[in-house]
Amino acid sequence: MSLRWLTTALLMTAAAVAQAQVPTGEALARAAGIPWPAVIAHRGASYDAPESTRASYLLARELGADYLEMDLQRTRDGQLIALHDTNLGRTTDIATKFPEQKDQPVNQFTLAQLKTLDAGSWYNKAYPDRARPAYAGLKILTLDEIIDLADQDPARRPGLYIETKAPLLFPGIEKELTAKLIQRGWLTAAGEVAPGHRLVLQTFEKGSLTLLNQFMPKVPKVLLLWIGEGSIDPASPAAYNPASGETKAAYYARQQPRDHAAFEQWLDFAKANGAVGTGPSAALTQGGDQSYMDLVQPWMNQLTHAKGMLVHVYTVDDPVDYQKVMAAGVDGIFTNRSSELLKFYHRPASRSVPEILQANGY
Ligand code: G3P
Ligand code: CA
Repeated sequence: MSLRWLTTALLMTAAAVAQAQVPTGEALARAAGIPWPAVIAHRGASYDAPESTRASYLLARELGADYLEMDLQRTRDGQLIALHDTNLGRTTDIATKFPEQKDQPVNQFTLAQLKTLDAGSWYNKAYPDRARPAYAGLKILTLDEIIDLADQDPARRPGLYIETKAPLLFPGIEKELTAKLIQRGWLTAAGEVAPGHRLVLQTFEKGSLTLLNQFMPKVPKVLLLWIGEGSIDPASPAAYNPASGETKAAYYARQQPRDHAAFEQWLDFAKANGAVGTGPSAALTQGGDQSYMDLVQPWMNQLTHAKGMLVHVYTVDDPVDYQKVMAAGVDGIFTNRSSELLKFYHRPASRSVPEILQANGY
């Protein structure tokens, strides 16, 4: 063998050894007690029912999603609730019930006030082809009520995948969440996830990750990724210009990290602060208002795995995109359409969406 061939053979062997040392996402998920690939029901089964309501979470549970995803916020009187937006305009009738306060954030309302709101009728208007009369009048849910739903059926016990949403508005929420999870038996006194339960904590905010890790060091945590202020530095600082005619999805799809180091910094922060994984955004084939930056490029997922963390991408609903992100190396998907993702993963639900909804009074 010539010296040149010997050198080439040695280099190839070294590359193979290096590759073999990178853990697979499946192995990382197993080590963290997380199903692989994971089906994370984003705000419940929120394509088929109003997001973050009983109908949405119950449907996700009955379909067989691994996790019910929720955005945690706090009322004026200190109750933990699930709501995505920081105000109530998009998903409730706040403008009718509290017209003077319609633009105020959630933390300006008591739970009793929030419970007067209709969190379902907006969906019937927005999606008439999926509307159901029983959705009208659905309520905003507390964390306690979502825990009740997750605990209710021993045959189907989904995990919770809880995001501290806008945590700067809710100082102390990480500690309160810890106390609630202990009180409800989801965490042991030693801070472990209780047997029979599945739990992941998630946040976009570095400070909140640090606090979650301080109070719940033994619970799996995920740092959500984004490009822009307070997140990964962009290659171009140009802000979105609606007058350009470009869609927001197209603008987001053009965004890239400033360089590899800007992306890697976030991985290193996540790892150093107890995260078992990252939650990057995806650019969707059809665009739409949940189509963001492509942060699941193969090199990004490989680097994340090489650092010993798994990847859960948000928020993907279309089989074309399921295929793309899985081929790029992700380990689970936040989806509004758990029914479709379960089919894609060859774990179809035993009943259809309409059958489950009808059987449960919707
Ligand atoms: O939590 C993952 C994903 O839900 C993040 O996006 O805005 O839907 O909470 P968002
Ligand atoms: Ca979320």
